Amino acid sequence: MTAGDSLRTVRAALVVLLVRFVFRAVDIVILAGAKRGTLRAAYLRGWRGPSPYGASFDRTLLARERGLSAGAFTYGEAFVSVARGILRRHGVGSDSVVVDLGCGRGNVLVAARLLGAQARGIELLPDHLAVVGEALGLAGVDVEIKDARDADVDGATHVWLSWATWDAEVRSSISQHLRQLRPGSVVVAVVWGLEDDAFEVIERSRAAFSWGWADVVISRARAADRPLSAGARPGRA
Ligand SMILES: C[S@@+](CC[C@H](N)C(=O)[O-])C[C@H]1O[C@@H](n2cnc3c(N)ncnc32)[C@H](O)[C@@H]1O
Repeated sequence: MTAGDSLRTVRAALVVLLVRFVFRAVDIVILAGAKRGTLRAAYLRGWRGPSPYGASFDRTLLARERGLSAGAFTYGEAFVSVARGILRRHGVGSDSVVVDLGCGRGNVLVAARLLGAQARGIELLPDHLAVVGEALGLAGVDVEIKDARDADVDGATHVWLSWATWDAEVRSSISQHLRQLRPGSVVVAVVWGLEDDAFEVIERSRAAFSWGWADVVISRARAADRPLSAGARPGRA
């Protein structure tokens, strides 16, 4: 590695630290003003546990057991303010149901609850929910330890997929699974968009995450040839 490379690496690491500092400060301000103290508590609870970023032998074993690459559990998270902005822009409100597949410490779910939506998180790695699960429950968030490929997305109006490090086969299996979403439902996918004819891309943008800036591809479940089932109502966005 040349001196120039080292300098670039150090500079990139400093930028990430600065991004985390600034956006977390914004998150704290937003949560300080939240009516529900339980949401603030759920957000802060994550900070009191062990770092979610570390690798471990258990994670590697679980990944292998599930046929996932070890990288699947690489951690990174959304900022509450950023997730709230994206969800709000795409119609999330009190009659929405937001499902985060791979919810980690639950920042997206906290953002959904700030907007008054129902929030459901699916997470395969027990470590994260061991720390924040109870506090999220008190904030009205349902969380479940489960593989995203088997998740119950029934009734979801919005699905969040922060799946940057997941294998292509896993992403493809989840895309198939999401075909059961009602027409009009919105899927927010980070880095990789949904590649499935049952969805149309409605927005491409970039946003800040705990690891830096990343692409966000937003898709909507198409209505064509997919009649609504009895009693179903379309997503709001
Ligand atoms: C990049 S983190 C995103 C966390 C959260 N969604 C956010 O945006 O703040 C991805 C999460 O997905 C989890 N994960 C990875 N593979 C999974 C799978 N097959 N099923 C459920 N969760 C998974 C990881 O443990 C990790 O917590």
